[in-house]
Amino acid sequence: MVDFDLTQEQIMVRDLARAFALKDVAPHAHAWDEQSRFPAEAVKKMGELGLMGVAVPSEWGGAGFDTVSYVLAMEEIAAACASTAVTMSVNNSLVCDPLLKFGTDAQKAEWLTPLAEGRKLGCFALSEPASGSDAGAAQCFAELSADGTYYTVNGTKNWITNGPDADVCVLIAVTERGKGNRGMTAFISPMPSEGLTVGAHEKKLGIKASSTSQLVYSNVKIPVSLRLGGVGDGFKVAMTTLDGGRIGIAAQALGIARAAYEASVRYSQERMAFGAPISQLQAIQFKLADMATRLDAARLLTLRAAMLKDQKGRHSKESAMAKLFASEAAMWITTQAIQVFGGNGYVKDFPVERHFRDAKICEIYEGTSEIQRLVIAASALKEVGA
Ligand code: CAA
Repeated sequence: MVDFDLTQEQIMVRDLARAFALKDVAPHAHAWDEQSRFPAEAVKKMGELGLMGVAVPSEWGGAGFDTVSYVLAMEEIAAACASTAVTMSVNNSLVCDPLLKFGTDAQKAEWLTPLAEGRKLGCFALSEPASGSDAGAAQCFAELSADGTYYTVNGTKNWITNGPDADVCVLIAVTERGKGNRGMTAFISPMPSEGLTVGAHEKKLGIKASSTSQLVYSNVKIPVSLRLGGVGDGFKVAMTTLDGGRIGIAAQALGIARAAYEASVRYSQERMAFGAPISQLQAIQFKLADMATRLDAARLLTLRAAMLKDQKGRHSKESAMAKLFASEAAMWITTQAIQVFGGNGYVKDFPVERHFRDAKICEIYEGTSEIQRLVIAASALKEVGA
């Protein structure tokens, strides 16, 4: 049976996130974007509200809700500010989630609890200057010491969301050369650390208030006790983590798209042309109808992926479908929103140009749309067969 009703708990989380987003995030989003200013106060408050570890059990400092609740909260925050949303998404999906799944109790107590409580902020480092989509081609190397007590890490990680503001990084590094993606291992890499340099803030097209930088490892020592999962399991840790992360980005795209759609509906009823509000023109109505339909389809795919994650089965295909569809829907909807606004959509007096710039990254990070199609096709070929 398919049940489209949310539980009381899920509604409560959504409403809490919505109230916070409307009061403490939306009024500042334009200024944060203009100034490329990291929303530190909002991130702190999200921690206090349980939004930095939504689906982490309360015994590890989290809010103890499910992935569906996480997705609902993400949509609300992203509708207000996509930068604040990705900060939240990375901490929840790419840091808390692998620590919960692969961490030892000692690692959870030391790292997961403060992250889920929002007292610490995390980042995730997989991509490198010469390897993005081809994650298995990473070069950053972690060499085990002769006495087997620590690793020495050398290499550069790229496009690290939260990098400049993070207290800890989930790092994927090569521990055995020549074995491709079977020679990679995951680590908990504390920040700051001796030898670890955080690069300059990247100047971006959108999500300007989120912080992004390189991480340069130069003889950084990481104790063996901070290895996350088994030796050689790093690629699978990364892929499993991204299966969850892609649901968060789908929800982020959904929030951006919803904000652009709702702004368009409202504007179309105010803006006069040919003696009547433009909402009375079929040309505009058709756009609004297509925006609403794609938005709903994206939401259903995203909620399905979240529900499957909560059921603990593998959901790689469904996460990829949700991210692919939601991010392309967000790009399309924000483009149409600018068209509805006309000249007013092209200037910064209205928020739709920000939504348009923010939407683009959803088609790129945590696996490009092309990578999502590869993941979906791999499942299709397996499921349907010859
Ligand atoms: N779950 C569990 N295991 C998985 C898996 C998954 N989702 N995906 C792959 N694996 C396993 C496979 O089963 C296989 O295992 P065996 O060797 O035991 O058979 C192994 O991993 C290798 O799988 P593939 O042969 O499919 O690997 P590949 O090298 O062909 O790569 C890929 C597949 C899908 C292209 C992958 O490299 C990929 O997802 N690339 C994109 C990387 C990405 O999303 N980067 C985002 C960076 S993070 C970011 O953006 C963060 C931010 O700051 C916002």
